[in-house]
Amino acid sequence: MRVLVTGAAGFMGGHLAEGLAASGHEVVGIDDLSGGFRRNVGPDVEFLQVDLRDADATARVVKDNPPEVLCHLAANAREGASQFQPRDVCGRNLMAYANVLVPALQCGVKKVVLYSSMAVYGDQEPPFDERMPRRPVDVYGVNKTGMEEITEILADVHEFDYTIVRPHNVFGERQSLRDPFRNVVGIFMNRIMRGEPLYVYGDGEQRRAFSYIGDSLPAFLRAAEIRPDLNHQIINVGGKHSVTVNELLEMVTAEFDAESEVQHLPDRPREVKNAYCTWEKSVELLGYEEKHDLKEGIRRMAEWARSLGPQPWREERLELPSEKAPRIWLENGLAGADPAPEPREQ
Ligand SMILES: NC(=O)c1ccc[n+]([C@@H]2O[C@H](COP(=O)([O-])OP(=O)(O)OC[C@H]3O[C@@H](n4cnc5c(N)ncnc54)[C@H](O)[C@@H]3O)[C@@H](O)[C@H]2O)c1
Repeated sequence: MRVLVTGAAGFMGGHLAEGLAASGHEVVGIDDLSGGFRRNVGPDVEFLQVDLRDADATARVVKDNPPEVLCHLAANAREGASQFQPRDVCGRNLMAYANVLVPALQCGVKKVVLYSSMAVYGDQEPPFDERMPRRPVDVYGVNKTGMEEITEILADVHEFDYTIVRPHNVFGERQSLRDPFRNVVGIFMNRIMRGEPLYVYGDGEQRRAFSYIGDSLPAFLRAAEIRPDLNHQIINVGGKHSVTVNELLEMVTAEFDAESEVQHLPDRPREVKNAYCTWEKSVELLGYEEKHDLKEGIRRMAEWARSLGPQPWREERLELPSEKAPRIWLENGLAGADPAPEPREQ
């Protein structure tokens, strides 16, 4: 069948599109390369560079390639920065989703897989369970909440299958090392390779559960199947074991045999202290299995990161720079009052 994957040059979208193509599907991948990389797109994926914020261009591409399944991963997923980039986050999440969903429905798409986030749970007590209410506490979480609710409402009215996946701290090869705002494992690795100090927000005792892409991918591939038991389901996909950021930092520095300076910064505004989720439903419905422990996942990603070498930080602009933004975001000319730069090939 034909599957349309948005965010196909991104970390997870690149893996997913390639995996779907390897399973024999005809895969069309869309990305504007604002956060992803052309090298992440596998050779068997038909790639189209489109900005989903452009409704007309998006509609044209979808109508030229009407999909049976839409896997929507395109996003500005910088949760922590979303309070400082609200316009960009709304454009690349809520609006982009509406722009691709409408033509897909007009073409009779059978199933939609929405990649949402743990951010919809907000600061409730973990482990987050799929039955908990949505209670986001940041702009990114509000967007993902809206996208989930739009999916449910439109599926009720227009009758299509959907599965909502809520991944949690996925890491591994192809993850952007250049983003100064997100992907803590990649940030630590790039700062070590660049010989820069490592920054930890707050006391570093916040807990997260990380999952290696090689373990998450099989579950993501199954989520794209058109199956009655997956229809109308929300499924967390996250690691089974939580660790503190301090513990993660120790593992990454040990892997690089590095003795980096560690500096603690104030907590980021509205950052949730502990965030990890239940995984039983992902095991039952998507066959989620952890074949790589965190150390092994870090080892594999580190090997890939070393082969890539130290990366320049991506230039990024905050719409609302203020003293509440972490100072490292404001240093090195990373952030200013200018609008976000235009997407470009990287
Ligand atoms: N990685 C994680 O741990 C994690 C956790 C929770 C949720 N998610 C969700 O999973 C999805 C994929 O995450 P990822 O880590 O691979 O992120 P990513 O940044 O690597 O991929 C997102 C892709 O979307 C593209 N994109 C952004 N705006 C676009 C636009 N207007 N038009 C077309 N393409 C656009 C970017 O260029 C990028 O390649 C996202 O929806 C994210 O919110 C990821």
